[in-house]
Amino acid sequence: MQSLSNKKVLLGITGGIAAYKSAELVRLLIKAGAEVRVVMTPSAQKFVQPLTYQALSGHRVYLDLFDAEAESAMDHIELARWCDLLLVAPASADFLGKMNAGYADNLLLTLCLASPQPVAVAPAMNQQMFANPATQENIKQLAAKQVLLWGPASGEQACGDVGLGRMLEAQQLFDNVLLHFSPGKLAGVKLLLTAGPTREAIDPVRYISNRSSGKMGYALAAAAIEQGASVTLVSGPVALPAPAGADLIAVESAQQMYDAVMQRAPASDVFIACAAVSDYRVDQAANQKIKKSSDSLSLKLVLNADILATVSALAPRPFCVGFAAETQDVEKYALGKLQQKKLDMIAANQVGDGNSGFETDFNQLEVFWRDGRHSIGHASKAEVANQLIELIAERYTCARSRQAQQT
Ligand code: CTP
Repeated sequence: MQSLSNKKVLLGITGGIAAYKSAELVRLLIKAGAEVRVVMTPSAQKFVQPLTYQALSGHRVYLDLFDAEAESAMDHIELARWCDLLLVAPASADFLGKMNAGYADNLLLTLCLASPQPVAVAPAMNQQMFANPATQENIKQLAAKQVLLWGPASGEQACGDVGLGRMLEAQQLFDNVLLHFSPGKLAGVKLLLTAGPTREAIDPVRYISNRSSGKMGYALAAAAIEQGASVTLVSGPVALPAPAGADLIAVESAQQMYDAVMQRAPASDVFIACAAVSDYRVDQAANQKIKKSSDSLSLKLVLNADILATVSALAPRPFCVGFAAETQDVEKYALGKLQQKKLDMIAANQVGDGNSGFETDFNQLEVFWRDGRHSIGHASKAEVANQLIELIAERYTCARSRQAQQT
C-alpha cells in the first residue's frame, strides 16, 4: 500500500450526518502514516463528539477560533501553514456558501482562507440542496478558485431522498488523498476534455442527438486525474456520475460545448475531443412544440462549428487529440482527419458492430500520430482509457521537449 508518511492532513468537519464517516477516514489516514489534525465547526459537534476524533488522531481537536490555550500551542495561522492538505469532509451547503464568499466566522472557515496549501472539499447534503442553483454556483466558483471538489456521490440519503449529494465513502476520500499526493505522468498538466453527445433542439420537447453514453470520455477523465492532471470535463447530457476530482462543465448543445471549450482551451496543455458532437443543428428551432399537421416535415439543418479543428488552429494551442468513430475504412478516415484538423494524435475505432464503441462498456482503438501508430486491444473502457492516457502523456512529453529545444 502507498504510504502517506510525512504527509500532514488537516481534516475539517462541518455539521452533517456524514460526519461519522470521517472517523473512519481519520483511521485510514493514520494507518497509511499521515499525521492528522482535526478541526470541527460548532454544528459538527452536534453530530459527533470531538473526543472521537481526538482518540483516533491522537491529538486534541481544534474547535474554537478564540481558544487561548489552543492558540498558544499552535495559532490558527500556524495550523493553516502546518498542513500539506486541508480537507473539509463533510462540507455542508452552508459551509460551502460561506467559504465561497470568504467568511471567516469560525476556526475552519478562517483556516480555509488562511491556508496556502491545497484545499479539498467533500460536499454532503440533501439532493435538493445540492441541486439548488445557489449551491451549484458556489461549487462552480470554488472550483474556479482551485478548490478540489471530491464528490458528492449519488444514492440513498439519511433523509430518505435518493440523488446526488451523499458524501463519498471514507475509502474513496482516502483514495483521493493518496492520488493527490502521488504525482503521475501528467502531474501539473491542465487537461481539457469533451465527452458525451450534444443535443440540438428542434422544439422545446424534441432534439437531434448522437448515440454516445459518454463512458469513454468519463473513463479518460478518471485516468488523466489518476496520472495527476487537473481535468476540466465539458460534458453533454449523460447518465454518469462526475469523475472524482474533475471540474465538470455540463452543456447541452454543440454551441454551448464550443463556448465552454473555447473559453478554456487557450489556458490548457492538452485537449481531448471525445464528444460525439452533432455535426448539424436545426436552423431555426421552434419556440413552441411542433404539432403534426401534414404528412411530412422538413427541417433545415446547418453545420455546427468544429470544436476540435478550432482549438487546433489556435496559436499557441494545446496538444490536440481527436477521436474518429468509423463504420468502415477506419485507418483511411482517421489519417484523413489527423491531417485535415492538424491534430497531434487521433484515436480511431470501428463502430456499429456491437462489440465495442458507443453505448458499450468495451472499446478498442487504433491510435495514429504523424510518425507512429499504436493498437490498444479490446478491453474495458477504463483499461483502454488508462492505456490511451499513458500514450498521450508520452507523446505530449515528447512534443513539449521538442518545442523547448526549438525555442
Ligand atoms: N468534433 C468536434 N466538433 C464538431 C465535430 C466533431 O470537436 N463539431 C470532434 C469529435 O469530438 C471527434 C472528431 O472531431 O474528436 C470527429 O471528427 P469528425 O470529422 O467530425 O467526425 P465525424 O462527425 O464522424 O465526421 P464524418 O461524418 O465526416 O466522418
